[in-house]
Amino acid sequence: MKVLFVCLGNICRSPTAEAVFRDRVEKAGLDKLFELDSAGTIAVHAGEAADARMRQHASKRGYQLDSISRGVVAEDFRNFDHIFAMDQQNLRDLQSMAPADATASLSLFLEHDPSTDTLEVPDPYYGGGAGFERVLDLVEEASEALLTKLRSER
Ligand code: 4NP
Repeated sequence: MKVLFVCLGNICRSPTAEAVFRDRVEKAGLDKLFELDSAGTIAVHAGEAADARMRQHASKRGYQLDSISRGVVAEDFRNFDHIFAMDQQNLRDLQSMAPADATASLSLFLEHDPSTDTLEVPDPYYGGGAGFERVLDLVEEASEALLTKLRSER
């Protein structure tokens, strides 16, 4: 199963979702079943490592963010089975970028977490440390819920 996590810049939220979900997949011994990646709806940070603040907060919880930022491309909509957006604007942007022959399912990442009414992972880029911790809290919960859901659908 091919899964792509998408936010705006692909330096804070979606690299975190990719790393945390990969951690849960590996702990479940399912790494051979999944191909994971992340991308941004804008490519202004393409080629850059994840945001240093995000990496620091993530590493305190044991996650290494080693993805390099890239923009979403048309091929992503044919290549991936699922594309998970971090917020509503990301989802709208994805919907407007999708080519006519897109096969990927598009949805909000947090839609798959029944334990929260929150639908968006808030953009932490212009805020302080609490925003990065909030990203990690939401992403950890949602990764566990999503993995449970995808396993039950197989
Ligand atoms: P992300 O955060 O979408 O979670 O990677 C942001 C990264 C960069 C910018 C905004 C949000 N930016 O405006 O450059």
